[in-house]
Amino acid sequence: MRLSTTLVALGATVAAALPQIEIKGNQFYFTGNGSEFKIRGLAYQPGGQSAFKSDGADKFDPLSRPDQCRRDAAVIQSLGANVIRVYNLHADLNHDECVTVFNNAGIYLMLDVNSPVVNTHINKENAKSTYHHGYLENIFKVVEAFKGYSNVIAFFAGNEVIDDKKQARENPPYIRAVTRDLKQYIKKHSDRFIAVGYAATDTRSASGAGKDSVVDLWNYLGCSIEDEEGDMSRADFFAVNIYSWCGDATFEESGYPELVKDFAQTSLPIFWSEHGCNEPVGSPRPFNEIAAMYGRDEMVKTFAGGIVFEYTQEANKFGLVKMMNTKDTESSDVELMKDFDNLSKQYDSIDWDKIKNIKTDSLKVVQPPQCSSDLILGKSNGFASDFSAIPELPSQAQGFMDDGVSLDNKGKLLDSMDYKFQQNIMDSNGKQVTAQFALVEMPDAKVNDAPSNKDGSSGSGEDGKSAASSVALGAAAVVAPVVAALAAML
Ligand SMILES: *[C@@H]1O[C@H](CO)[C@@H](O)[C@H](O)[C@H]1NC(C)=O
Ligand SMILES: *[C@@H]1O[C@H](CO)[C@@H](O)[C@H](O)[C@H]1NC(C)=O
Repeated sequence: MRLSTTLVALGATVAAALPQIEIKGNQFYFTGNGSEFKIRGLAYQPGGQSAFKSDGADKFDPLSRPDQCRRDAAVIQSLGANVIRVYNLHADLNHDECVTVFNNAGIYLMLDVNSPVVNTHINKENAKSTYHHGYLENIFKVVEAFKGYSNVIAFFAGNEVIDDKKQARENPPYIRAVTRDLKQYIKKHSDRFIAVGYAATDTRSASGAGKDSVVDLWNYLGCSIEDEEGDMSRADFFAVNIYSWCGDATFEESGYPELVKDFAQTSLPIFWSEHGCNEPVGSPRPFNEIAAMYGRDEMVKTFAGGIVFEYTQEANKFGLVKMMNTKDTESSDVELMKDFDNLSKQYDSIDWDKIKNIKTDSLKVVQPPQCSSDLILGKSNGFASDFSAIPELPSQAQGFMDDGVSLDNKGKLLDSMDYKFQQNIMDSNGKQVTAQFALVEMPDAKVNDAPSNKDGSSGSGEDGKSAASSVALGAAAVVAPVVAALAAML
């Protein structure tokens, strides 16, 4: 972690929208230059379950509290992440400040459209009764609330709705239906591409859903239905919440060779929508999987990166930072944990320039297989293999699809932004380091770099310059003349 290179800017310049990202074959890429984009993400939900209040005048979600976002965007930017995943959101709250602060920090968003409130998710115990027009209206509202932010690059149509045999038999058609509805809605009501995919439970270790069910679900969601126009029910990406690499385990012990083998022929991007096993609980995680995920050729070729679970320490102990005041995460000071240091070191050891220079021109694109029950290894075990079972859009939802759902506060990025925050940041030894964590605005719409790229060793012009004149300022002490002086130095 090179905190000393942190540079401060005022919200005086208008930070541009981050570059558009699309999908080719099994990779995300920048539309502008055809370079691959690898996800280097963090799950962001300060307060865990209580990060989301769904009723009353004071309802909130992780992206509706600007003071919290200002503090956390600075920390996450310094870590080097380029994506956050946010789980539970209310369409009717204002997210402009939070999303703008992450945009201006060079960080993309991948969002779950579902939340724990009734009528805002498919109940995995009873998918049929919860797939209805009220549900669709709610998830379309989430699309309306977020489609206008150009740093929103993906929606998760579902998260872990298959954990046992019954769910493996019944639920896959509903995942395809919701995927189709979201893709169609976006196609009709958004002026740009936003990817839609699914985050699966890792059921490889022979859970109730069957040993092959992750592979089966990837095949079920990723195949192409012969007479379906535009592949609308086919997922744009497939993600897995994977916790099989624990402590000092090796690539082999963690089952990674099998993952590479199982998914070698993927026609769509696959990434870890959560990773970071915390066993043994209580000792700092070494995050050794990072070196493999972004360093080994077969991993880089097959997969599209991953999202570390999770930013804040909650009861289940997967955090990178600790809230000093867990009752009030918004105004709380934060303490970086040893896990944060370790992850930062891991990111620092990767050759990101090599990844940056992979062009999708040279990508070997695998065509999606035709959907057929032959693709499903666990069909004798009851895994869904009938593609005619995908339910049609409920007729009462047709109006939403045709005319769009109405929502007053459609989000948009703000022209100017204040990055100052009042909370303190402590390092993992309890030392006050707030001054080193001011957000660096990316005025030329640059994507946030990993730490190893920030010190200028990559030779990329802008970075090199700012690093050469590295200055650390207190977030609260930012004044215009300092910025001017700094500009003169550059
Ligand atoms: C992770 O943190 C612990 C505690 O500071 C340390 O002993 C260990 O070496 C770190 N691991 C890595 C891979 O940096
Ligand atoms: C391609 O564009 C993206 C977004 O602007 C940038 O981050 C990346 O470094 C570029 N790739 C190369 C090889 O220049």
